[in-house]
Amino acid sequence: MNNFETKQNKMPANLKDLNLMYGMLKDFDLIIKNIQKNKEKVSVLNFGSGDLKMTKALIGGAKEKIDFSCYDPIYTDNNKLEEYQKTSRISIVDGSNIGNVKLEYLSHQKELDNKTFDLLISNFCFHHFLETNTEEDLKKQIISISPEVLIISEYNMPDEIDIDNFKKIFTNEQELREIVEFNHDWERLMGIHCKYNSVYYENLLESIGYKIIRIEKSTNKFYLTATKIHEA
Ligand SMILES: C[S@@+](CC[C@H](N)C(=O)[O-])C[C@H]1O[C@@H](n2cnc3c(N)ncnc32)[C@H](O)[C@@H]1O
Repeated sequence: MNNFETKQNKMPANLKDLNLMYGMLKDFDLIIKNIQKNKEKVSVLNFGSGDLKMTKALIGGAKEKIDFSCYDPIYTDNNKLEEYQKTSRISIVDGSNIGNVKLEYLSHQKELDNKTFDLLISNFCFHHFLETNTEEDLKKQIISISPEVLIISEYNMPDEIDIDNFKKIFTNEQELREIVEFNHDWERLMGIHCKYNSVYYENLLESIGYKIIRIEKSTNKFYLTATKIHEA
C-alpha cells in the first residue's frame, strides 16, 4: 500500500469525497492545458450540469480560452431554475463570459446533435440518464459527443448495502435535495444509486474505444478519466 492509500484509508468518508473532487479539478486543469498544446480554444461539455456548482468550481481559476457548454434538461423547468439560481451564483444567460470562458446552456438533448466536444465532464449524472435511457443510448450519446477525454464521477456502492445503511450515507446537500425530488421513495433512490458501479462504467467506456487512464475511489464514489483510443 502506498502513502496516498494509507492516508485515504484513515480519512472520514466525506473528506474522501472532497478529496475526489479536488482530484477531478486538478485533472480538469491538466487536461485543458494538454489539449491547448494543439488547439487555441478548448470545448467542454458538462453533461447534467444541474445547479452549476461544479461548473463554477471548474472554471473558477481558468486562464485558458474555453467554450464551456452546460447541458441539463432541468433548464426547461422555470421553478427549478429559480431554486438553483439561489445557490449557483452563475446566472443562466446564454453567451455569458466569465474571464476567458464562454458559457452556453443547453436544455434539450437535440441541441447536442452534431456537436462534438474536446472534453466531456459528467458529475453524478449518468445514473440519472440511465433511469430513463438504455445503456446503448448512453454509449450512442458519448460516441456522438466524441470527446478526446472524459471525466466522470459516479456512485460505487458495496453490493451488500441495505436500505438502512444507504439512508445513513445518502446525506450530502445534493442527495438531500434528491430525496425531496424523489418524494422519499427510498427504493427508487437506492435502486438507481446502487445499480451501477465503477466496473460498469469502465467496461462501458472500454467497449466504445476509451482507455481508463486514472481512477480514484472514496468509500462509495469514484471518478475516472478516460481518453479516446486512436488506432495507429
Ligand atoms: C446529482 S445531479 C448532479 C448535478 C451536477 N452535475 C452537480 O455536479 O452538481 C444529476 C443531474 O442530472 C440531470 N439529469 C437527469 N436526467 C438527465 C438526462 N436524461 N440527461 C441529462 N441530465 C440529466 C438532473 O437534472 C440533475 O441536474
